[in-house]
Amino acid sequence: MTATSAGRYVGAAVRIDQINAEPQLRSAILRDCGSITPEIHMKWDSLQPERGVWNFAPADGLASFARTNGLKVRGHALLWDQSTPGWVRDQLKATPNSWNHISRYFGTVMNRYRNAVDEWDVVNEPIDTEGGVNGLRKTVFYNAYGSSYIERALHEARFRAPTARLAINEYGLEYDNPVDEARRVAMLRLLERLRQNGVPIDVVGIQAHLDLGKGAPHGAAINAFFSVIADMGLKIAITELDVKEVSASGAVSTRDQRVADHVRAYLDIVNAHPAVMGVTTWGLSDRHSWLQNQPVSPTVNAARLNRGLPYDANLRAKPMHSTLHQAMTDAELAAVTTR
Ligand code: G3I
Repeated sequence: MTATSAGRYVGAAVRIDQINAEPQLRSAILRDCGSITPEIHMKWDSLQPERGVWNFAPADGLASFARTNGLKVRGHALLWDQSTPGWVRDQLKATPNSWNHISRYFGTVMNRYRNAVDEWDVVNEPIDTEGGVNGLRKTVFYNAYGSSYIERALHEARFRAPTARLAINEYGLEYDNPVDEARRVAMLRLLERLRQNGVPIDVVGIQAHLDLGKGAPHGAAINAFFSVIADMGLKIAITELDVKEVSASGAVSTRDQRVADHVRAYLDIVNAHPAVMGVTTWGLSDRHSWLQNQPVSPTVNAARLNRGLPYDANLRAKPMHSTLHQAMTDAELAAVTTR
């Protein structure tokens, strides 16, 4: 299933090198996905690793793969502190008043992928309620331009790609703990500011890096949060779904079921909201998951262990796979009967 008749898509973050090298992965993407997100190829440090040096080939390859196979592309991500190359950081520090760095970059990239990308993560991860200022992360862009870099980036993006949907993408919004609660509040405050000032924004990207160590997804809080977003006239995309395990002990079947149950609980909450446009998982196979690089704890190495994506490391579908697709189908049926 690639999309429900309500238009909700299922997508995945992918890399062209992996697609080309692994026919099974390629088939799984084509079987499962209506949308893809470049996991790294459209980040600034990938596209322009050095001043004057452009590396378009991987992103071009992905755009071409998407076009050939009729897939939508979420452009990820125009401004993200962590993927800003060193030479840009130096420039922003040297000439913080100049917006040229940003406008030139947006102009080149958004024009090049105008036919491929229908939704851009314009600002990725702007929220920080622990070390930030008024809930905003002190990114290299914040330091150069102040909090208005978000408004300016969205205006620039609308100018460069008038028909694309524009998103802010964020993590840490799912659970019942003080940090996630503060982050939800900070995100709403930011969105309210943008809406009041007539700033172009269409979508809120919810990364949804789920974590079995954080309890059940907080249905009441997510419902309230999503309702406010929808009332602002904004759409919601689940952009980076995966599940971090707490422990790698126990039978694999038990672990996989636990992951699947957590995903089902989360999707049943979010799919009840008509504003939700689709769900993208952050990869398809555990073999390539970024979570393989995350330590579970100082004594447990997750490198070979985490099982938080629809397919295992050998591209065998796990319970999360059927759960994800069943949850999307069930949500569609529910929507039809209440129409
Ligand atoms: O390709 C180079 C390789 O040539 C080099 O030898 C090697 C040495 O470190 O690095 C390789 O690049 C790495 C790249 O992944 C490809 O594997 C980068 O170091 C590494 O930082 C990069 O990590 C990606 C990370 O974003 C930073 O871009 C992860 O794959 C990707 O899953 C992760 O995705 C982020 C989202 O964009 C935003 N939300 C959180 C999510 C997880 O961190």
